[in-house]
Amino acid sequence: MFYVNQDVVELNRIFDQNLREGFLRLDLNENPGGLPKEFIDDVLKDVDSEFVAKYPETEPFQRKLAAELGITRDEIVLTNGSAEAIRHIIEAFTSPGGEIISVDPSYAMYAVYAKMYGRKHKKVPYRDGFTSSVSDIIDAISDETQLVIILNPNNPVGDVYTDEEVKSIIECAQKHEAFVLIDEAYLYFAPSTFIDMAISYDHVILTRTFSKLFSLAGCRLGYAVGKKEYVQLVQKLCTPHNVNAFGIRFADRIISSDGMVEDMVAKQTEGKEYLIDTLRKEGYFVNAMGGNFVFVKTKKDAADVTDRLKNEEKILVKHYTDEKYKNYIRVTTGTKDIMEKFVASLQKCDK
Ligand SMILES: Cc1ncc(COP(=O)(O)O)c(C=O)c1O
Repeated sequence: MFYVNQDVVELNRIFDQNLREGFLRLDLNENPGGLPKEFIDDVLKDVDSEFVAKYPETEPFQRKLAAELGITRDEIVLTNGSAEAIRHIIEAFTSPGGEIISVDPSYAMYAVYAKMYGRKHKKVPYRDGFTSSVSDIIDAISDETQLVIILNPNNPVGDVYTDEEVKSIIECAQKHEAFVLIDEAYLYFAPSTFIDMAISYDHVILTRTFSKLFSLAGCRLGYAVGKKEYVQLVQKLCTPHNVNAFGIRFADRIISSDGMVEDMVAKQTEGKEYLIDTLRKEGYFVNAMGGNFVFVKTKKDAADVTDRLKNEEKILVKHYTDEKYKNYIRVTTGTKDIMEKFVASLQKCDK
C-alpha cells in the first residue's frame, strides 16, 4: 500500500469561504464595504496585457512597504495572505511532535497547520470567556515549546496586550528556546504595533495582512517581518511568484494615497462605536475591544439567530459551537450605514 499522510487524512478543514455572493459578509472579518468603486476603477485603468501576462514584480512594492514600516527590504517577505506566512513559519521553526502554543479560541489555521505538520497544539483558554491571561500563557511555555503565537489584537475576543506583557512572553519563550510569532492581522484596530520587537529580538517574527482593513482579501496579500535570516527561511518555503500582481498594485496605491488608511480606520471606528452603543442601549451584552469585530450575546438561541440572519436577511455572522461561546455571535464591524442595516436585521431575527 502506498503511503498516505494520516495527519492530512484526519485534518478537519472548513471551507466556508464560498457561495457568499450577495450576502452581507459579517462573518470573516473582511472589510464588508470594501474599497470605493472609483478607486478600484482608477487602479485598474493602467492594467494592460503585459501586466497580466508577466509574473508579478514584487521588488518596488517590497521596498516601498519596507520604507513605510521603517525597516529594510530584507526584513520583510510578501506572502499569499498572511495565512501563507503563518504556515511557513510553522514549517521553519517547529519540528514534527514539537509544541505550538496559542490562546483558544483563536484563528483556526494555527490548529490546522499544527495538525497538518504533526505538531502538538497546546491551547491556552480565555479566562471567563473574554480575558486572556498573560500568566496563563507564560505558565504554558516549557522546554517542549517550539513556537508561541500571540495576536495583536486577539481574534476573536479582541483583547490587546501591553508592551510589558508581550515582552514578558517573549522573554519567557527565549529562556525556553522557543520562537514567537506575533499575528497583527487586526493591527489597525489596536492601539499600537509590536513590530519593533520583531526586529530587535532574535527569536520573534510578525505577520500582517491586506485582507482586513485594506479590503484586499480577494487579492491574497500578506507579509512577515523579522530578522533577515528568518524572513529568508519563509521566502524559501513559498511557491515561486507566490503573490498576486493585482494585490501588489492595489496595496501600493493604498499605502501611497495620503490619508487613505486613516480615513478607513475612522469610518470603521465610527461604525463600530455606533454598533456597540446601539446594541448596549437595547440591553445586549457586547464584548468589544480591539479588532473589527464584536461578540454579541443574543437574546434568543444564537445558532437560530445566525440561521435566521442568513436565510431571512442575507447576512452572514459567525457562530461558535464551543460551550463557552454558544450563546454569542461574532459580528464583523463596518461603516455606520452597514451597521445600521445589521442592527435592523438583528431586531427582526432576535425576538
Ligand atoms: C488572526 C488572523 N490571522 C491571519 C489571518 C489570515 O488572513 P489572510 O490569509 O487573509 O491574510 C486571519 C484571517 O481571518 C486571522 O483572523
